[in-house]
Amino acid sequence: MTQTWSPSSWRDRPVLQMPTYEDQNALDAVEREMAGLPPLVFAGEARKLKKKLAAVANGQAFLLQGGDCAESFSEFNANKIRDTFRVMLQMAVTMTYGGALPVVKVGRIAGQFAKPRSSDTETIDGVTLPSYRGDNINGLDFTAESRRPDPQRLLKAYHQASSTLNLLRAFAQGGYADLQQVHAWNLGFVKDSPLGARYQDLANRIDDALRFMAACGITSERVPSLRRVDYYTSHEALMLNYEEALTRQDSLTGEWYDTSAHFLWVGARTHQLDHGQIEFVRGIQNPLGMKVSPAVDPDDLIRLIDVLNPENEAGRLTLISRMGHEQVEEKLAPLVRRVKEEGRSVVWSCDPMHGNTIKSSSGYKTRPFDAILAEVRGFFAVHKAEGTHPGGVHFEMTGQNVTECVGGAEDITDEDLSSRYHTHCDPRLNANQALELAFLVADELNAIRAPQTILSADPVAAE
Ligand code: PEP
Ligand code: CO
Repeated sequence: MTQTWSPSSWRDRPVLQMPTYEDQNALDAVEREMAGLPPLVFAGEARKLKKKLAAVANGQAFLLQGGDCAESFSEFNANKIRDTFRVMLQMAVTMTYGGALPVVKVGRIAGQFAKPRSSDTETIDGVTLPSYRGDNINGLDFTAESRRPDPQRLLKAYHQASSTLNLLRAFAQGGYADLQQVHAWNLGFVKDSPLGARYQDLANRIDDALRFMAACGITSERVPSLRRVDYYTSHEALMLNYEEALTRQDSLTGEWYDTSAHFLWVGARTHQLDHGQIEFVRGIQNPLGMKVSPAVDPDDLIRLIDVLNPENEAGRLTLISRMGHEQVEEKLAPLVRRVKEEGRSVVWSCDPMHGNTIKSSSGYKTRPFDAILAEVRGFFAVHKAEGTHPGGVHFEMTGQNVTECVGGAEDITDEDLSSRYHTHCDPRLNANQALELAFLVADELNAIRAPQTILSADPVAAE
């Protein structure tokens, strides 16, 4: 690993999963233009998120990260942003109560476009074209024109991210996130769910807590933190030309931040020690994530931690395990144990989506709700056995009523998948499935909650 880092030092490394553009000059021109555009987030926000994640690493908070597998240009509208934001708040309230822990909210949103693919090309009826790599690179339609990488798409993605973030900031600070309101939505969910009785008890207890608080004069009219939330953005640091163009030196500290999002993660296919993605993220000061698949062994993991978090700073690194429900206990336990033995501070988060993708009999890629839940439970079981903190969950989900994952209280079947299958990449939990999962995670959190945390102040409260 060279010692000198710059926003462009990744260019001297091998990179996987990046497109080849036909017109290098057109790409250069776009990068120059982007380098002059305003940052989407600022360094102080990324630092604040890192502090909150430090509380997660220390067992004093819980991380909820979620959103689309891939954002798209065609599915971009205000209602969709609002609905994803709303479901995440509903999930967070449930988990906050269940765990008696503050929940740090991070969307896969406002920049989550670029996708790694298992193959560089796709063949249909004897025709072979480049694979779809996300709307910021090329188009989903199976035509030569659509699949040709177009650098103008990077600019379009930036502008979409910018207006998404603008709306999210308004929702988070402008009253939409009022705790009373979010709780009322949860009551509606419980009332309408076929398995509502299972969730009624927790909803009632939250109701009692809010009535008690109101009786004591703690209401959202009087206490601003009850009507505002901190909401952060994240995406996979895959398309490095985009990330480099938005990487800026913070005028306060002189440090480099990737201002395309608060939190960036490296995916399971691109975290080779000597490759471009790891080289790029090691030099930015944003909080980082890294996906951990069953292929990673404990020695590899420690070497990657050495590079990504050499100062062992709490909150710097979140390890997002995605093992699959059958392997989670066997594969995660040795990694958790080794990281603990080496005294490394990390956030452990569970992505129960990417190890549980199957092809349904109707031909769609799907994920069974029960497999997703089983991986979450396996993750909690490993941390209980190892004496470590299960720090968070990472879901592909949407606030829309899609039919992409099978199962859940509404029991979506293989035959239902075709009715509202809208994802541009992997299957997402729909709003009800995501909430149901949040109630079940809240139960897991409740089972392990430490009595002494009940009366301690929220170390990461919104300001
Ligand atoms: C993703 O998060 O959409 C993804 C591609 O995940 P992974 O890198 O874990 O396969
Ligand atoms: Co995905």
